[in-house]
Amino acid sequence: MKFSPPFYGQEEIESTARCITNGWTGSGAKVIEFEKLVQNNNGFENAVALSSCTAALFLSLKALGIGPGDEVITTAMTFCSTINVIIHVGAKPVLCDIDPKNKNINPLEIEKKINDKTKAIIPVHYTGFPCEMDSIMKIANRNKIYVVEDCAHAFETFYKGQRCGSFGIVGCYSFYATKNIAIGEGGMAVTNNSEIAKKIRIMSLHGLSKDAWKRFMGNEKRTYDVVDIGYKFNMTDMQASIGICQLNKLSKMTSIREKIWDTYMNSIEEEEVILPSLPNNDSIHAKHLFNIGLPEYINRDKFLEKANFQYETLFAVHYNSIPSFSIYKDLNIFENANELIVSNNWGKRNISLSLSAAVEESEVEKSIKVLKKLLKDPEIRNL
Ligand SMILES: Cc1ncc(COP(=O)(O)O)c(C=O)c1O
Repeated sequence: MKFSPPFYGQEEIESTARCITNGWTGSGAKVIEFEKLVQNNNGFENAVALSSCTAALFLSLKALGIGPGDEVITTAMTFCSTINVIIHVGAKPVLCDIDPKNKNINPLEIEKKINDKTKAIIPVHYTGFPCEMDSIMKIANRNKIYVVEDCAHAFETFYKGQRCGSFGIVGCYSFYATKNIAIGEGGMAVTNNSEIAKKIRIMSLHGLSKDAWKRFMGNEKRTYDVVDIGYKFNMTDMQASIGICQLNKLSKMTSIREKIWDTYMNSIEEEEVILPSLPNNDSIHAKHLFNIGLPEYINRDKFLEKANFQYETLFAVHYNSIPSFSIYKDLNIFENANELIVSNNWGKRNISLSLSAAVEESEVEKSIKVLKKLLKDPEIRNL
């Protein structure tokens, strides 16, 4: 039993095997091919393949020179990664509450948090629903601050006809095992700013002026310089070769996910749950997570326990609200933790249903059945 498993076939097995038989398993031709494909497909001038979206977010902030003394505004409804990278560069994360309808950062809240220290906003296109980029970009431009888009859920998201990831200075994709493009672990920074792309690329590999592929191909000099204090965040050819296969069948995977999405919607629309909303016509939801709100009277912990152990059905949580986690409480970094009313409420009641092209029809039916059953179960009600 796996939550949102990847949709793999013979092609992923064969292409990974080819990396093993040809002996080049590190970063090489496949990484370059994968970068070029994403670059051309998604219309960016630069794409830097990395070990994760976390690495992409972190290196983006680094490349923009964000560090101690700076503040970065983001949402309270995201994965901890978005927050941790801000802390890792030495800056202070500042949280905004979310819009009750789309669960994305509320632009009205952003404006209130801006001060002289604010250097960037990280909007997260949560579940694949596009953030209100018009308002966010207006605020950012007016205040001369950067926008780094967390597109972990948003490889296929568009806002008013424009691809998400292309509004801010950098967009960061995740290719984690459950994502729309799944390669186990992996990420990518996409940008139309070549200087930033170059900085990210160099920092992703120790600060070397040249990677191994360049050093050992053709008549290139085998030596390199170290031009920055870098990290080790590069993607490997084995990961990229899976990514290429996934990209080639993305439209097929998307249409299967859309069908599952519609089945979930149609089957539970009568239930007392908060259903996901969709953006207007000229915007596209990537349909990465089918995330719903349980009624207030349901005890979510008991729901998840019973679903898991009694009915062997996996539901997930995306996410508890950021201030609810112990480390952030211990650090006491969010003065407004109790004011994030919408996020704190959503964090307590949301669950996600398994959604990927590899989810079998029988599993979809089972999730719906178990959900309906549990909604009527007096044992999981809050007292
Ligand atoms: C909103 C969000 N941001 C960032 C990340 C980090 O992605 P990765 O696991 O590729 O580092 C995730 C991962 O799920 C995410 O959901």
